[in-house]
Amino acid sequence: MAHIDVRNLWVVYRLPRHDDDLVAVEDFTLALAGRPGEFVSIIGPSGCGKSTLLLAMDGLVQPASGDLLIDGRPVAGPGPDRAVVFQEVALLPWRTVLDNVCFGMEFRGVAAAERQEVARRYVKLVGLSGFERHYPHQLSGGMRQRVGIARALAVHPAILLMDEPFGALDAQTRQLMGVELLRIWDQERKTVVFVTHDLDEAIFLSDRVVVMTARPGRVKAVIPIELPRPRDQGVRNTLAFIDYRRQLWGLLEEEAMKSLDLVEP
Ligand SMILES: Nc1ncnc2c1ncn2[C@@H]1O[C@H](COP(=O)(O)OP(=O)(O)OP(=O)(O)O)[C@@H](O)[C@H]1O
Ligand SMILES: [Mg+2]
Repeated sequence: MAHIDVRNLWVVYRLPRHDDDLVAVEDFTLALAGRPGEFVSIIGPSGCGKSTLLLAMDGLVQPASGDLLIDGRPVAGPGPDRAVVFQEVALLPWRTVLDNVCFGMEFRGVAAAERQEVARRYVKLVGLSGFERHYPHQLSGGMRQRVGIARALAVHPAILLMDEPFGALDAQTRQLMGVELLRIWDQERKTVVFVTHDLDEAIFLSDRVVVMTARPGRVKAVIPIELPRPRDQGVRNTLAFIDYRRQLWGLLEEEAMKSLDLVEP
């Protein structure tokens, strides 16, 4: 249960052979409550800086300015308190499903027997029982994505950074994985930052939804989702849910149009 504090964060990419630098994240401020573990989703048009923001939170991208604090300490690089599910999941091709899920635990000094047991549990949780000894190239895209999710969950991170983790999944699996993720989150109360393009998914999962502007990504709005928990699929049909969807779509549409150059920004 870690508290994340992002204050006036700027992330700038230097582009070789270009005159100008590219501002990916501009003056972004957001605090996530560590207790009891807040679930925040981030939505925004393609290219607005969502992945960049997550990479900065993991310490893989250096901010140009601003503060990024976890429990009051500046982020200096990746750490055992955080696990990331990347937008494009990277598995080790020479390792089986089970050994890929074990990978993160090896770094954290978990004993071999326990690693195997925990890995089996999470492989089952993501619906891949029977595929433990398969290699990544023997899986579908959605299955590979689920291995990435199992690998992140298996290390019991205080902070889970998820970049469109369900993007490669079919609609049904996606909804079921959302329910599973909420169940785990209810039990373990991690701080979760969840990037998605799916408004319903953001509403269903989150305590708050952050809408980012078109690039350079700033905070356009932060919408608290005051639907009672625990949530089940039925909540998707409530008036409150539909109202949130309408509100978020209104905010997002404007930015999506800008980012596609359909209107003058
Ligand atoms: N390594 C990099 N070097 C230079 N520019 C980059 C790099 N990574 C991302 N960018 C640029 O930063 C901007 C934000 O990219 P980012 O991947 O954070 O967007 P995103 O919001 O995650 O988009 P999507 O929804 O398509 O995943 C884009 O304009 C992109 O071209
Ligand atoms: Mg992205």
